[in-house]
Amino acid sequence: MGKFKRNLITTALPYANGPVHIGHLAGVYVPADIYVRYLRQKGEEVVFIGGSDEHGVPITIKAQKEGVTPQDIVDRYHKIIKDSFKEFGISFDIYSRTSSKTHHELSSAFFKKLYDDHKFIEKTTMQFYDEKAGQFLADRYIIGKCPICGNEHAYGDQCEACGTSLNATDLINPVSAITGNTPELRETKHWYLPLDQYEDWLKQWILEEHKEWKPNVYGQCKSWLDNGLQPRAVTRDLDWGVPVPIDEAKGKVLYVWFDAPIGYISATKDLTPEWEKYWKDPETRMIHFIGKDNIVFHCIIFPAMLKAEGSYILPDNVPANEFLNLEGDKISTSRNWAVWLHEYLRDFEGKQDVLRYVLTANAPETKDNDFTWKDFQARNNNELVAIYGNFINRTLVLTHKYFNGIVPQRGELTDYDKEVLAEIPAIIERVEKQLDNFHFRDALKECMNLARLGNKYLADTEPWKVIKTDEARVRTILNICLQIAADLSTLTEPFIPFSAAKLRGFLNIEPVAWAAMGDNVIPAGHTINEAGLLFEKIDDAQIQKQIDRLLETKKANEIANAKVAPAKANITFDDFAKMDIRAGRIIAAEKVAKTKKLLKLTIDTGIDTRTVVSGIAEYYSPEDIIGQQVSILVNLEPKQLKGIESQGMILMAENADGSLAFVRPDKDVKPGAEIK
Ligand code: MF3
Ligand code: ZN
Repeated sequence: MGKFKRNLITTALPYANGPVHIGHLAGVYVPADIYVRYLRQKGEEVVFIGGSDEHGVPITIKAQKEGVTPQDIVDRYHKIIKDSFKEFGISFDIYSRTSSKTHHELSSAFFKKLYDDHKFIEKTTMQFYDEKAGQFLADRYIIGKCPICGNEHAYGDQCEACGTSLNATDLINPVSAITGNTPELRETKHWYLPLDQYEDWLKQWILEEHKEWKPNVYGQCKSWLDNGLQPRAVTRDLDWGVPVPIDEAKGKVLYVWFDAPIGYISATKDLTPEWEKYWKDPETRMIHFIGKDNIVFHCIIFPAMLKAEGSYILPDNVPANEFLNLEGDKISTSRNWAVWLHEYLRDFEGKQDVLRYVLTANAPETKDNDFTWKDFQARNNNELVAIYGNFINRTLVLTHKYFNGIVPQRGELTDYDKEVLAEIPAIIERVEKQLDNFHFRDALKECMNLARLGNKYLADTEPWKVIKTDEARVRTILNICLQIAADLSTLTEPFIPFSAAKLRGFLNIEPVAWAAMGDNVIPAGHTINEAGLLFEKIDDAQIQKQIDRLLETKKANEIANAKVAPAKANITFDDFAKMDIRAGRIIAAEKVAKTKKLLKLTIDTGIDTRTVVSGIAEYYSPEDIIGQQVSILVNLEPKQLKGIESQGMILMAENADGSLAFVRPDKDVKPGAEIK
């Protein structure tokens, strides 16, 4: 670790306005957890910080939508999120929250120090105000057209379509997200961090001293810095958040992006009384794991805040990831286009590692990537089961079969044995190199190469044949296989910790330190345990269920977003009165032979019993609708359909996707009742 003595690893604090999904896991929490577990195995001192971001407009909007308090919202989702992370083995030393007392005190004191040191500038400007709602419209409370890309749904602080950071007054046709009204402008005073004053320092610190940052991170910083920085307001006219600790600012709160990153500090303080050693000693190496939408906040704004405060260290690296898509489409909470972690756990019980594995193998490290259920299945079946699991299973089964589960003594090594054993440290070294550079996909690939090596060694040496003639040779072969198996349990622990622990259980060994991996980890004479399966196949039906769920979501979204047909030209009441619509009841129903869509219905109209041919067979089956009430237009000219005379028409509501629903009285009425 060179000049550093200890590590402080932080992960972006997710907004507690909804559960977490695979995008969160892939972009931030799994890579951070891999890195932390790796450092711990190497015996390095590390604290791993997480928590919920419980302020800001995303929270209050959700609360308003549901008619509950913001506190209700954050209490609910903080728990769900915290539980999901725990279930997935994200090994935080603390998972805190920004509504905590420690955080309110610390972020308030942070602001006060900057204020007292004259680090802010004050400005009175015109900002949007919603008279009906009685509040200023900060950030996501205001929606309008993006002046850069034309997206109709840009927010007051940012357009998510093109990524531009905006001022609310830049928006074209701004409306209030609360009432939909066009807001007015009102005067208000705020405190700004003059980022422009930090520009030269930031250029030196990032562009000169941190050329090693990932290209996507360095590139974004460079473009921000090249465009020139503007003072940024760090207070807001809202009532949910950390109150601004100066008299003049009564009723205002800190901007969520001012208080949230301070949450890393308060979480550390909640964790240990020695928190200052992590935050104020230059021998601490701080690393922020985040998604790409957070780069500017972690590389420019928060460092400027820390620099202004003066007593804190700065991040050594900010390994931000790009985004994960789902089946070709952007993950979206509002469109329910996501794989939610708590739902995954319900459908794939005990398979946390499979998701950790797939999300790492397919991580959006250098570009946006796509998660598909087919790929998930293939990676499980063809990699975890067929390569890793298969090698472990053969090694354990053969050891039990030939040597009663006792690790056999090695004899003399062949050149091939030596070659294979020499590959182990080479692979470990490559894994380390990739991990040290935050290349988690490549690191995982190298780990799998160790399992591949084991498989190839077994296939080449064929102990199941050799046993008939040369038991001593088989002792050597299986001894070597068992060393590889033990090394796999250490090497893959950061990535798939549950399976690694399971494997140690099969091998009956304690965790092995990273430095102790090599060609002699399990001594001869050691007894291993009964073997079980490390990984299980995932079948097509399980995958189809997930795909069907997404298809349903897609359909529901299409219906929800479909443009409604414009109104037809007006008619007179007399026009309307010409239609004779009655309540009726279906007394018989059957499919019309050789058609897909048609049902032949027998309807009691109250006037008579008649036959109607209706195109509803794709949505209703005959046995389900007999006895139900319908609305029927009885004076429609009869018409021949497939050789049947249809005497009237059943009224249906048609969705955008063509699916149909009966229009019927909402209470049972006597057939013949007029509908008008
Ligand atoms: N809540 C923010 C988001 O989800 C991330 C906050 S990270 C922190 O985008 F640094 F501010 F804590
Ligand atoms: Zn835009």
